[in-house]
This record gives sequence, C-alpha cells and structure tokens, in this order.
Amino acid sequence: MEITRIMIIGAGAMGAGIAQVAAQAGYRVILNDVAEAFVQKGMAAISGTLDKQVHKEKISSDDRKIILDRIIPSTKLEDGKDADFVLEVIFEDFEAKKSIFETLDTLCKPQAIFASNTSSIPITRLAATTKRPEQFIGMHFFNPAPVMKLVEIIRGIKTSEETIAITEQIAARMDKTSVRVKDVPGFLVNRINNAMRNEAKNCLLEGVATIEDIDTALKLGLRLPMGPFELEDFVGLDVALNVSKTLYDGYKDVKWRPNRTMEQLAISGDLGRKTGKGWYDYTSGEKKPRTDIEF
Ligand SMILES: NC(=O)c1ccc[n+]([C@@H]2O[C@H](COP(=O)([O-])OP(=O)(O)OC[C@H]3O[C@@H](n4cnc5c(N)ncnc54)[C@H](O)[C@@H]3O)[C@@H](O)[C@H]2O)c1
Repeated sequence: MEITRIMIIGAGAMGAGIAQVAAQAGYRVILNDVAEAFVQKGMAAISGTLDKQVHKEKISSDDRKIILDRIIPSTKLEDGKDADFVLEVIFEDFEAKKSIFETLDTLCKPQAIFASNTSSIPITRLAATTKRPEQFIGMHFFNPAPVMKLVEIIRGIKTSEETIAITEQIAARMDKTSVRVKDVPGFLVNRINNAMRNEAKNCLLEGVATIEDIDTALKLGLRLPMGPFELEDFVGLDVALNVSKTLYDGYKDVKWRPNRTMEQLAISGDLGRKTGKGWYDYTSGEKKPRTDIEF
C-alpha cells in the first residue's frame, strides 16, 4: 500500500514537530487539533523552525513554502477520511485517545493504518478500541521530533507484519532510524533510562555520592549529554514521576517503585527547571546545589 496522506491528530509540541518532519519527507499532511487556535499555534511553531533552517541555509525559501503548503490545517476528524496513515499525538490520556480512535474507525477508509505516539499506554490496549488491531501500531518519536533520529516502532499483539513494514518505510523516508520494540511498559528507551535514573537515586539515598558528582560521573564516564538529575529537572519531575509510576504499575515489581524523594519534591511543587527548583536550584538563573534541603 502506498502512503501519501498522513493525518496528525494533536498539534502540540510533538504533533507539530512530527507534522513538519512528515511534510519535509514529501507527505501530504493533515494537521488536526480541537480548535483553530491550537492548529495555528502548531503551524506557527513549524514556520518558526523552518525559518531557522532557511537562515542556516539548510533549505531555500522556496522549499520552506513548499513544505508549509503540504500541511493542511484541520479541526474536524472527518478531514481524515482519505488519509492512508493516521498518527495520534494528543495528551497522554487513555479515554481521550480511545474516543478519537473509535471515531476514526468509523470515518477512515478500511485500509488506513492507525498509529499512536503514546509514551506509556500499551499499544495492544489502544488497538483493541478499534476494529483494525492488525493495522494499529506504536510510532514513538522523541523530543524534539525534527532533531531526534530515533523512532521506536511498537508492535501490539495483533499488529501485522505489513503494518510494521509500512511504518518502518515511513520512518526511513522521514530520515529517522527505527527500532522494533515489543509492547512492554515504558517500551525500550524510557524503560532503560528510568532504570538508570532509579539506580542514580538509590546511590544518592545510600550516600554513595552527591547529586552533582553522580551527574558529573555519568556525563564524563558514559558520555551522556546530561546527568540523570539534570535530565529529570529538564523534563519535569511530574513527567518523570508519571513514567516511573507507569513502569511500577506495569511490572508490579519493587525494582520500579518511584523514588520517595522524587515523589516528595513533585508533590511539593518542585518540578525542576520550569518551577525554579527540583534536584537543583535555578532561582538565581544558574544551576546550583540546593541548600534548603538535605538529600
Ligand atoms: N513531550 C515529549 O517529550 C513526548 C515525547 C514522546 C512522546 N510523547 C507523547 O506524545 C503525545 C503528545 O505529547 P505532547 O508533549 O505533544 O503534548 P502537548 O500537550 O504539547 O500537545 C497535545 C495536543 O493535543 C491536542 N488535543 C487534545 N485533545 C485533542 C483531540 N481530542 N483532538 C485533537 N487534538 C487534541 C491539544 O490541544 C494539544 O495541542 C503524548 O501521548 C505524549 O506521551 C511526548
């Protein structure tokens, strides 16, 4: 089956980035959100990123126009009736995603493939909300989508080999590298990354080293761009806690139990960079060790 029209549902941080990548790969893109203002926000984000690419002479202004012209703004799911591939990128909520897939199932052509960019909801569970579980797949991009090369391709229990092959072709045409992953909690990257961050927190708890030294050691010893505590402050402790809870719920193994200090920081509103304090203190405008808490 040839894929020419891709519908992206959700024009937020990830949806806009993926829409841009799809349009740059030559696909016709329908970018959908619940209201015109949200679609326009996504379009403005894409436009801004393309402006930077023109400025850096990576693309010409003609290319910029061609790419933007390939994206059709939409606020109605009916606009996806001719789509070959529909990628859902709305906020992380099962009931909201379920409602979209149930509607799409009645609107879209029978051969259309459905995909979700969910970070944590089982693909098999989402696939079961449709009458086409063979044509349902996880396509998990990383943030920011135009920059990050990896796509995890997650096969639900009933996903067909043809659906996987088509999704791999789409990822390759988007200039991404894809890996096949089974439908397990956290998939691959978030699972391994979370295990490492949990172990870093265990080391902190045991007094093996300080937060700053653990971050320094992992950056210099493993060539990580950010240490585990720096990374959690960057993504937000609320987001990190949710990932941790998903893994704990999914595996029912004490190894995945969310770290208590992380939970306490998140409950008290210290969510990292976005609130000024997390594992570090950013209130002076620079990253500093916290002096108000004894870890
Ligand atoms: N942000 C990340 O780092 C990241 C990375 C990988 C995967 N994800 C996953 O991608 C998905 C989206 O995350 P995000 O960070 O882009 O969220 P976001 O909050 O930035 O954007 C979500 C968008 O979906 C729209 N939306 C909500 N309900 C809708 C509906 N019924 N129909 C159409 N649009 C609707 C919202 O208006 C919003 O524009 C989530 O499932 C998340 O787990 C996020």
